[in-house]
Amino acid sequence: MVLNSPRGTSDFYGKELEYRNFIIEKSKRLFERFSYQQIVTPAFEHTEVFSRSIGEATDIVQKEMYSFRDKKQRSLTLRPEGTAGVVRAVVENKMYADLPLKLFYEGNMFRYERPQKGRMREFFQIGAEAIGSDDPLMDTEMIWLINDLFSELGFKDLVLLINSMGCEECRKDYMEEFKAYLVQRLEKLCPECKKRYDQNPLRIFDCKNQACRVEAEASPKISEHLCKQCYQHFEKITQNLNLLAISFEVDHSLVRGFDYYTRTVFEVISRQLESAQNALGGGGRYDKLVGQFGGPDIPAIGFAIGTDRTSLLMQQLGIKPLRPKRARSVYLVSMDQKFSSFLVKLLKFFRKEFKCDTNFNKKNLSTEIKWAEKNDYDFVAIIGEEEFKNLMVTIKDIRKFKQHTFSWENEKDKILALLRGN
Ligand code: HAM
Repeated sequence: MVLNSPRGTSDFYGKELEYRNFIIEKSKRLFERFSYQQIVTPAFEHTEVFSRSIGEATDIVQKEMYSFRDKKQRSLTLRPEGTAGVVRAVVENKMYADLPLKLFYEGNMFRYERPQKGRMREFFQIGAEAIGSDDPLMDTEMIWLINDLFSELGFKDLVLLINSMGCEECRKDYMEEFKAYLVQRLEKLCPECKKRYDQNPLRIFDCKNQACRVEAEASPKISEHLCKQCYQHFEKITQNLNLLAISFEVDHSLVRGFDYYTRTVFEVISRQLESAQNALGGGGRYDKLVGQFGGPDIPAIGFAIGTDRTSLLMQQLGIKPLRPKRARSVYLVSMDQKFSSFLVKLLKFFRKEFKCDTNFNKKNLSTEIKWAEKNDYDFVAIIGEEEFKNLMVTIKDIRKFKQHTFSWENEKDKILALLRGN
């Protein structure tokens, strides 16, 4: 019987995994420098966590959620994104002692989408959420993070789009004007957008249908209807970005596909990727969401990047994951089963500080040395008949073609000095 992985999922190993780990490692270091702490939340939640926050009329909730009933008939959903679960956790655990609370996460997300290159059913995100501040400096920090993350990974030509979707106040007048504009064009919209017009007209901006997109692009924009506070808030962010020399484009059509957004939204896109999958990451403010989850009425903002798309584009552009300085490595070759107690002692000694493995399946010495070379080891340590008899170990520096035999009893510091490169 041959079983394949489910459509839209992948196995990660070898080169793919190297890219992914590189992206995760880089992000973690960046988050640390900006003082973000990690949070881990469940991969599934009660369905309402997502349906109420992301929005009943969104594509994610309507079409893309992996929802199921457990044995007690509770409706659960595999997380399609990270924000709702983080907010649920913050409220449930009352994590408000020291605001703003700055968190980051990394993990798998699930959306029932039509799989394509860069669009998976199980995919991975790295994200950050800052809860408890509406200071434009916090918006600046989020955009700064996403921008630096991609530049530290080695990208040069990505485009940062930003917009403001205003607050509830600005939206009241705007929605009237927007609907008045669209009502005369309803017959040009797809059947789904006709429904969106009644349920949640802003979602028309998410439609992939060309005719609907044209209408949305030509319609009045929320960012042209901002109240004074929202306008000034957005102005401050653009000023800060200029101060930081972060380039951006203001895109009045950017509304992003979640209902929870208020005020600032942003996205990082690549014009080198196919347009439907060109977003590498995005985020925005969600000032009402903590309150909606039963927490205090505190503002928040966050973003997430797609690890898979980022890795894909790095590979397409030939950006190499530069390995962080790795621990030095020793391949310990023991030529006989009877040396095993000495071998165990040496393994313990080396593994305290260095990457170390041994030849479980005994082959001949030269095959083992060739294997170590091929697998990028720095040293080979050898226990042969002579070494065993005299409690010695021979260490061969693979790159320098040098070898030396040390007394195990008396020369441990010399062994360490050689391996450390002192
Ligand atoms: P999002 O824009 O839906 O935002 O997802 C962020 C990133 O996840 C996308 O830019 C993309 O790179 C990746 N992504 C999304 N769907 C897929 C897929 N099917 N296959 C591969 N990659 C995908 C959010 O999820 C928000 N929670 C971001 C946020 C955090 N807003 C505030 N805080």
